[in-house]
Amino acid sequence: MKRMLLLPLTALLLAAAGGVGWLFLRKPAMAPPRDVRVPMTPERVARGKYLFEVVADCDGCHSERDFTRFAGPVVVSGRGNAFRFPVEMGLPGEVIAPNITPDVETGIGAWSDGEKIRAIRDGVSRDGRALFPLMGYPRYRYMSDQDVESLVA
Ligand code: HEC
Repeated sequence: MKRMLLLPLTALLLAAAGGVGWLFLRKPAMAPPRDVRVPMTPERVARGKYLFEVVADCDGCHSERDFTRFAGPVVVSGRGNAFRFPVEMGLPGEVIAPNITPDVETGIGAWSDGEKIRAIRDGVSRDGRALFPLMGYPRYRYMSDQDVESLVA
């Protein structure tokens, strides 16, 4: 009787382990980046700057901040230069908001405009990795095409 149960039980356990493993390892559904080239008109750039610094507060995470001063204002020369969240904030592990300047080596200068848009609205990095949702894509996904393109500009 014991032997008769052993096989189906092992099969059941293996199937359950496989299912859980699949849930952990599968990639979320993702669309390819849009094939778009954003025109860098002065209006677009101005709108993007306003969204970056004020409305969407990309600045608050992706720029250098001076925490020796009240509320840690952004260091203007370090705008978009990446920011390492201090351990005291208690985030799970080391979290870095990466460099998103147009620098080709250290920033996202080599990304296509479609890849940038996909990262901002869908939370998919250039290599297809899902971004940690501290990056606000669950909210930025409601951004209009006009606005997300202004950010890219
Ligand atoms: C609350 C903090 C926070 C805010 C606000 C924020 N981000 Fe992020 N962002 C992050 C973090 C953290 C990552 C890295 C996530 C990861 O590596 O999994 C990231 C990743 C990115 C990436 C991908 C970069 C790469 O090299 O993979 C881009 C592009 C980006 N953010 C753009 C923006 C833009 C544009 C805004 C404003 C609309 C913004 N972010 C606002 C925290 C933030």
